[in-house]
Amino acid sequence: MIKVAPSILSADFANLARDIEKIASADYVHVDVMDGLFVPNITIGIPVVAAIRKTTALPLDVHLMIERPARYAAQFCAAGADIVTCHVESDDGDGIRAALDAIHAAGKRAGVVLKPKTPAEAALPYLDRCDIVLVMTVEPGFGGQKFMADMMPKVARLRAWIDERSLPCELEVDGGVDLATRGACVEAGANVLVAGSAVYGADDIPGRIAALRG
Ligand code: DX5
Ligand code: ZN
Repeated sequence: MIKVAPSILSADFANLARDIEKIASADYVHVDVMDGLFVPNITIGIPVVAAIRKTTALPLDVHLMIERPARYAAQFCAAGADIVTCHVESDDGDGIRAALDAIHAAGKRAGVVLKPKTPAEAALPYLDRCDIVLVMTVEPGFGGQKFMADMMPKVARLRAWIDERSLPCELEVDGGVDLATRGACVEAGANVLVAGSAVYGADDIPGRIAALRG
């Protein structure tokens, strides 16, 4: 089954509770955390994740775009994140493993994220301890960018490795996913689709979530 994770980066931040209620039929709430260092933008932090937690029973899928995520991973878990993903480019191997371990120690699901220029192989050292791998299909930092179809071979390679190893690991794509691009993602092997503008830009949000799920 395909899961849909609407990104609240495209929601109205002055009306987050209302806009999260609009996506009640989704599978996850995707929360984009940016620190102004790892990416050239600053968005949501720990207090906002804690506030969101009170408004929904949906799993919170927290995408950390921050330098050295091990510093804050446990705090995001304590704030109510259910899934926390860290960019492999945001620290050295020990740092990324420390972040994944901290997330698991908090009893939450952990994963790694790959920027567009990062090869699939960069996920391999972490694959056996990931509950999810996220492949960026735009440069992280902003919503509303054009989908990079040339990321599909990377998704397909990761799908093959996950299946060969029979790993209980989800495979997520993020960036420019809409009704026109979802098919390529699913065909390549993704099972979780993040969508910001494609969900919040729709007149019928539950209808759009259902159509993205397919
Ligand atoms: C970009 C974020 C995405 C973004 C997706 O750095 O990670 O989650 O919100 O937005 P759309 O679906 O509009 O590309
Ligand atoms: Zn994201």
